[in-house]
This record gives sequence, structure tokens and C-alpha cells, in this order.
Amino acid sequence: MPDLDLLPSDLPVVRTVADLRAQVRAWRAQGLTVGLTPTMGALHEGHLSLVRLARTRTDRVVASLFVNPTQFAPHEDFEAYPRDEAGDAALLASAGCHLLFAPGVEEMYPAGASTTVTVTGVTASMDGLARPSHFPGVATIVTKLLNQCAPDVAVFGEKDFQQLQVIRRLAADLDLPVEIMGAPIVRAADGLALSSRNAYLDTEQRAIAGRFNLILVEGLARLRRDVAVSDVEAWAVAELLTAGFDRVDYVEARTPADLGRLGPGPAQGPTRLLAAAHIGRTRLIDNMGD
Ligand code: PAJ
Repeated sequence: MPDLDLLPSDLPVVRTVADLRAQVRAWRAQGLTVGLTPTMGALHEGHLSLVRLARTRTDRVVASLFVNPTQFAPHEDFEAYPRDEAGDAALLASAGCHLLFAPGVEEMYPAGASTTVTVTGVTASMDGLARPSHFPGVATIVTKLLNQCAPDVAVFGEKDFQQLQVIRRLAADLDLPVEIMGAPIVRAADGLALSSRNAYLDTEQRAIAGRFNLILVEGLARLRRDVAVSDVEAWAVAELLTAGFDRVDYVEARTPADLGRLGPGPAQGPTRLLAAAHIGRTRLIDNMGD
């Protein structure tokens, strides 16, 4: 049996791949199915919704907590990223999670590690351009987590819609025997998508952030009224700047499955409107679609 520590929340935690595999093996020996919800911690209702969704599909749910250094660029917020393992464990236990996998950096990237998973195509736009080292870092760590846990189902939020499509792509291309499930975005009352990074916002910035989703909702409504894609994108960028955002990385209407370009004329068929914008030092992303 694996070496299981108990956190104050009573949620068992393992910190090594060997212990994770031993626990998953023990469950499988009992005929139980396993779900995985990867996270970087600082958990909120959005993360917990993934655990609850996984619970509806599998007998046992593992949550991973690892702030993955390789998906942050040197100038980004890796050091500042909020960390509260005990608080996260309590929330996970309340959502019905069965095991926390919380490895250290040396466990995930032992000295000499030199393999990177690179997904092309769906990474060629938007966050792939704005954050060039981001998706190779995400694809590598998610491939490792899927191999380490070997779950039947892994759940990821549509909040990070491009990331979800990157993960679907890598799982298909690498023949990983796992079902990748997308989960709907959990939002605050004013529509702001819950995010660990919302904690960086002061009161004034939080009010500005509350305009983000409303602008995307209105943009999507314009697309459905057959306003030209390029006009909607330009309109939404201007609205975000007027609302008080300091910088807009992109607002783009794309086909949901392969994130192909739409437009410049009216959007035909299923459409996702995706955006990234900065308030002060905080970068927020959101998306809306069919
Ligand atoms: P993190 O930002 O912690 O998010 C973990 C998971 O929670 C992702 O699948 C994300 O899409 C989902 N999530 C976050 N906010 C959400 C919300 N408001 N509604 C629904 N789902 C939400 O995404 C990552 O970590 C990392 O890149 C990771 C996949 C763990 C790899 O390091």
C-alpha cells in the first residue's frame, strides 16, 4: 500500500509518483474507476466543479496540485502565484475528492529531464502567441500527470478553452487511453470567470474586471446578428479599453474544435469568442460560445 499522509482535512496526500501509482493500482484491484482533475491550487468553486463532475463519472477522484514552473515565462507570476495547500485540501475534501497528489518540483522535473511535448496547430494563435513558452509547459506537465495517474477520465475547465483543446489534441495524438472532459465556466455574480488570479485585483480593478464577460456576451450577440467578425473583434477591444483594461492581447472569434480563424465577414457555424486582457499587472482570460 502507498505511504499516505493525512492532512488536517483528512484528505490523504501523496507526494511521489510511486505512491500515486500504488494508490491507483489498489483502487483498480478493487474494480474502481479513477478520475483526475489537475490544478495549480489556490482553489475556488471553478476547480471544485471539476472534482464534482469527475465524481459523477468515476468511483475515485484524484486532484493534483502543482504550480508548474515550466508554463510560466520568467517575467510572469510563478513566485507570486497564491499557495495554500492546507486550505486547498479542505476544499477538495468538501467536494468529495479522494486523494491529493502534491509533488515537489524535483519529483516532476528530476535533474536531467529534457523532454518537452509540443502541440502545433491549436497553439498557433492567441495565448500561443502572447505566451510562447506557455503551452509547451502545459502540454508537458499534463502528459506527465496523465501518465503518472493513468485515469479513466480527466476533467479540465472551458475557462482555459485553448488549453482544453491543446490537451484534447495531445491525448488523441499520443494515444493516451483517457477521456478528456470539458467543464463549463463557473462565474461570479457579475459574470467574471472565477480565477486564482482574481485575488490580485484591488476593488477598483475588480469592478473593471466585472465588465469583461459582459463585453464578450454582447460581442457574441453581435456575431449571432451577423455583424462581421472583424468588426465585432475591433468593437470588443475598444470596449475593454474604455472599460478600464490597460492592454488587450486579443479578442478573436474562432471555430471551437480546432480554433480555426473565422471571418472577416459574418461567422458561419459554431463560434467561440476568446479574449485576454490586462488590468495593471494582472492578466485575465475569458471566452463565450455556442
Ligand atoms: P489552474 O489554473 O489551477 O486550473 C485548473 C483547472 O481548473 C483547469 O482545467 C481550469 O480550466 C479549471 N478552471 C479554472 N477556473 C475555472 C472556472 N472559473 N470554471 C471552470 N473551470 C475552471 O489550468 C491549470 O491550472 C494548469 O495549466 C494545469 C492544467 C493544472 C497544468 O499545470
